[in-house]
Amino acid sequence: MKILSIETSCDETGISILEVKGNTFKILGNVLNSQIKIHAPFGGVFPALAKREHIKNLPILLEKILKQTKTRTSPEKKIKKNLTPNPSPYQGEGQIEDNVTAPDIDLIAVTSGPGLEPALWTGIVFAKELSKKWNIPIVPVNHMEGHLFSVFVKNKEFSIEKINFPALSLLVSGGHTELVLIKDFGKYQIIGETLDDAAGEAFDKVARMLELPYPGGHYVSKLAEEARRNLSPLLFKEGVGGGNLKDHHLALKGTPPQQGGEQIHLPRPMIYSKNFNFSFSGLKTAVLYLIRDLKKENPKILENENVKKAIALEFENAVVETLIYKTRKAIEKYNIKTLIVAGGVSANKYLKKEAQKLTKNKQKLYFPTKKLSGDNALMIGIAGYYKFIKNKQKTTRFSKIKALGGLRL
Ligand code: KG4
Ligand code: ZN
Repeated sequence: MKILSIETSCDETGISILEVKGNTFKILGNVLNSQIKIHAPFGGVFPALAKREHIKNLPILLEKILKQTKTRTSPEKKIKKNLTPNPSPYQGEGQIEDNVTAPDIDLIAVTSGPGLEPALWTGIVFAKELSKKWNIPIVPVNHMEGHLFSVFVKNKEFSIEKINFPALSLLVSGGHTELVLIKDFGKYQIIGETLDDAAGEAFDKVARMLELPYPGGHYVSKLAEEARRNLSPLLFKEGVGGGNLKDHHLALKGTPPQQGGEQIHLPRPMIYSKNFNFSFSGLKTAVLYLIRDLKKENPKILENENVKKAIALEFENAVVETLIYKTRKAIEKYNIKTLIVAGGVSANKYLKKEAQKLTKNKQKLYFPTKKLSGDNALMIGIAGYYKFIKNKQKTTRFSKIKALGGLRL
């Protein structure tokens, strides 16, 4: 069985082709177009631009992947010219000329949510059009379930390992932060989630405050890593994030404590709440106030790399400690056997290190490879296949496939 999958929920246009035999998956092709450079000047994803770029890139990527995988349509038609999705997906469907014959594909999987609706629609309209013209069944996929399955992709050929249930998934991305109890694949219960900002979103906002590029998670984490290696013995004599650090944030004067500076401490939000929810908006504001106060004393304080590194370190510690703390509580309460961490923030090295410490010799731990921690179409193909098999190959009614920005697991 060959699956063509399509991902357009945010700022990455992805198409992949997977071949499945039994429990063995083979990656035949995987193409991705990132829009990061286009959105960077706005400091976030600009939905109308994302939509325009997806519409432009989908036929180009399809042409590319069919050529790459030799899953050609015959006669050799230039897809690029013929597959032009309608520029207003809300109003109707795309246009594919009838003479582009079907390639060797058995199933189309497409992300239907959660995500930015204008962006989601582009992939859905495109998938529907291919499905209709080529008479191939289509299955809508939850993007977060895709992230969950991303951890099994180790090589060009891989299989879905038999895992021990109950499992717990910490899904951390730019739009989501949730703890999901998994009794079996397909049986999900969100037991905790962020009440405001997602962890990745907080990383991106703090990056902006520290005058780092967008999306900033990676850059904040790089600074934090350098600080952990070089600065922390000076700044955190009592051990990072612990000991008798000052109760709340403030005020690093840009010098190590020995030279008259003070330690900084940011809050660990909701650590005393009895539930598994998160909140990162207050933490973000604490960083904002911290920088504001530091700038009052020295407007050029952020020119001091060590100050930036110290803030990045304390911020990353606060996020990771909070995520790990709630994950630990959930593992204990539900007697968890397997922990799956996925989503863009799972690229964070410190989070991985702390998750390894947490699960050592107790739970089996899964993380995606760095390349697959971000959005991609491969994960949508795997999740789509499982959904198709689970539903006994019944596909969702065509008219029911629509973009659901707030879709939940
Ligand atoms: O899953 P993803 O690619 O897109 C969404 O579905 O949201 O996640 C992107 C998020 C961004 O907020 C980005 O800053 C964050 O993942 N991220 C990181 C790291 N790498 C990416 N956050 C913390 N540390 C990282 N190393
Ligand atoms: Zn994602």
